[in-house]
Amino acid sequence: MSDPEFQPGQDFAAAMDERDALREFRERFLIPKTASGADCVYLCGHSLGLQPKSAAEYVAQELRDWAELGVEGHFRAKNPWMPYHRLLTEQTAELIGANPSEVVVMNSLTVNLHLMMVSFYRPTPAKHKILIERGAFPSDQYAVKSQIRFHGFDPAASTVELSPRPGEFCLREEDIEQLIERSGDKIALIMLGGVNYATGQAFDIERIARAGRKAGCAVGFDLAHAAGNLQLKLHEWGPDFAVWCNYKYLNGGPGCVGGCFVHERHGQDWNLPRFAGWWGHDQKTRFEMPSNFYGSPGAEGWQLSNPSIVSMAVLRASMDIFHAAGMPRLRAKSVMLTGYLEFLLNHFLPNDFRPNRVDSPDFSIVTPSEPERRGAQLSIRIPQNGRSLCDRLAAEGVIGDWREPDIFRVAPVPLYNSFGDVFQFVSRFTSALRQ
Ligand SMILES: Cc1ncc(COP(=O)(O)O)c(C=O)c1O
Repeated sequence: MSDPEFQPGQDFAAAMDERDALREFRERFLIPKTASGADCVYLCGHSLGLQPKSAAEYVAQELRDWAELGVEGHFRAKNPWMPYHRLLTEQTAELIGANPSEVVVMNSLTVNLHLMMVSFYRPTPAKHKILIERGAFPSDQYAVKSQIRFHGFDPAASTVELSPRPGEFCLREEDIEQLIERSGDKIALIMLGGVNYATGQAFDIERIARAGRKAGCAVGFDLAHAAGNLQLKLHEWGPDFAVWCNYKYLNGGPGCVGGCFVHERHGQDWNLPRFAGWWGHDQKTRFEMPSNFYGSPGAEGWQLSNPSIVSMAVLRASMDIFHAAGMPRLRAKSVMLTGYLEFLLNHFLPNDFRPNRVDSPDFSIVTPSEPERRGAQLSIRIPQNGRSLCDRLAAEGVIGDWREPDIFRVAPVPLYNSFGDVFQFVSRFTSALRQ
């Protein structure tokens, strides 16, 4: 979409929806309803994406094949289950800017993160540290610290935490880069989020991967809040690995199988340690039941178990929609939607609302204002009574989510949210604030 001058009136939102080439995609999703049967204002796709209407039929197909074929479905189902994950490979690769051999859907995010650290966190007495954000999602912090302990090191001595400068919410890329340059000789692994879950800050993956590789560090990203949100070029940018979940922007349903990227340069490195399982064994000989493991080339070689077909069926429904919409168009609309949300918040919120400062007495948007430093999400800091405000709004069908201690997260998602949703949100949010 081209860049118009945002206007505060509701007619502007209606005009934007009218000219939105992606507006028909909203019809493909089930929007939760209020008690009176109206559509909720659902700005929570950063937490759990909505259900594609087509998901039920994708799942029904597999249930029918299971009912009619039993175990034979592994080979004779309409979409045979043995190679079922491959139905997602092309679209997943396209989505994150990778080669097909570099991606696989399997397990869930934290499991995949552990599997990747088994291979890519190779601490030595001189180079044993892991660089993470102090504000990383807790599961990542637990995973990182438990891996450090597993290798016999002390998390207090082996983690390097990135914190924003005093008085700021977000990290500066130059600070990350300088820290890597300064301490890279002691850092074994750089493990950052693609988009921070709390602040909504998007990191420059290419710049961090380049700095990390120059310093001889392994580099991995948690893309939970980046996949399906940002335009990614993982192969070109060159991190060693990435993991993500498919239930946020990617609408694969609660607990959906996760995604994993392993850069091509490692795909056939059999010297890397890895935890093996039969589903990672070379497909050609897997069913000969050999006792020695020969890994499949590429990311598939990290699979452990046969995956949930039902879960992947839902994900296929969503990925087909993503493919039809196309990430470049989605990202262009997303930049507009989130820019519009920011504009309206700034327009309608009280005068003492000052973006990006911790000292704002009431509210602040902690997410960076530059579109290239964020995705769909805006994080609004509400120092007092924010949780009850969030709960009140949810009871009225205006759905964002709360992250302790003081962050209200909202994300207009370009696949199914409209400019009208954003307008509704801001008017309901600002009137709830005044109550
Ligand atoms: C940034 C981030 N990392 C990791 C996780 C954990 O995901 P999972 O429960 O799929 O392992 C989440 C879950 O919301 C997340 O937001």
